[in-house]
Amino acid sequence: MEVVIAPTADEVGRLAAAKVAQVCRSTAETGRTPVLGVATGSSPLGLYASLAPWINRHRDIMRDASAFALDEYVGLPKDHPESYASVIARTVTEPFGLDPSRVHVPDGSADDLNAAAQAFEDAITAAGGVDVQILGIGSNGHIGFNEPGSSFGSRTRVKTLTEQTRRDNQRFFDSLDAVPTHCLTQGLGTIMDARHVVLVAQGAAKADAIAALVEGPVTASCPASILQFHRHATIVITDDAASGLTAAAHNHYQLDNLPEVQRWTHELE
Ligand code: F6R
Repeated sequence: MEVVIAPTADEVGRLAAAKVAQVCRSTAETGRTPVLGVATGSSPLGLYASLAPWINRHRDIMRDASAFALDEYVGLPKDHPESYASVIARTVTEPFGLDPSRVHVPDGSADDLNAAAQAFEDAITAAGGVDVQILGIGSNGHIGFNEPGSSFGSRTRVKTLTEQTRRDNQRFFDSLDAVPTHCLTQGLGTIMDARHVVLVAQGAAKADAIAALVEGPVTASCPASILQFHRHATIVITDDAASGLTAAAHNHYQLDNLPEVQRWTHELE
C-alpha cells in the first residue's frame, strides 16, 4: 500500500489525479481502453477537477473510456439532483467528456434490485474489469456503502445505510428524513477486483478511519482495511487526515525518494 501525505486538499487532488492518469496511460499502452471506477461525495471533487483537463488533452487515451459508479441510493428517482446518477453526470461524465452510454450507475429505482445488482456486475465484467477505482472513505471506515460488518467477499447488492452515514450525507438533503435508508453498492469483493485503487481523504474527521485502514488490523469492523490486501492501492490524504498514523514520517520520506521506476507524481505536468 502506497500512502501519500500532502499539505493541502488541492495537492491531494492533483497527486491522486496524477496516479489515475498514470494508470490510464499504462492501460492504453497495453492496447485496452481505460475503465474508471468513480465515487460520489466530497472527497474526489479535487481529483476530478485536476483530472478533467488531462483527460481532455488526452483524447487518444480516453476517447472510449467507460466508468462505473460505486453506488446509488435505493428509491431516489434518477433525475433527483442528489441521485448518484445525477451526481456522476455532473461531476464525471460532463467534465470528462465521456459518452453517457459508457457511464454506468447501479439502478436503485429498479423493481428487481437483485437483478439490477447482477446486471451491474455483468456490465463490469463485459467491460473487462475496472482499471482504476477511485474511492473516498466514510468516517466509519466504509468504502462504497459497505458499512462495518460487510463481507470481504461481497458483490454488488442492497445494503442498509448506518445512521452515521445518513447523518454524514444529510448535508445534501433538506432533512435527515429525506436521506434514503438503503443503497445498491459494489461489494468489497467487487472493489478488490479493480486493478488499482486510489483512495482520497481530507480533514481531521477522517483521521481515525485512515489510521484503521492503513495501520489497524484487517477487520470487517473497518471495511476499508481490506485494501491492505490489494496489490496496487494508493492512499492520498492531507496531513490532518494522516494525523493518526504512526508511520507518517516514513511515508513522506518514501514519496520524496521515489525511485525512477515508481515515479508518477508529475504525470499531469
Ligand atoms: C461515494 C461512496 C462513499 C463516500 C464516503 C465519503 O460514492 O461510496 O464511500 O466516498 O462516504 O464521502 P465524502 O467524500 O462525502 O466524505
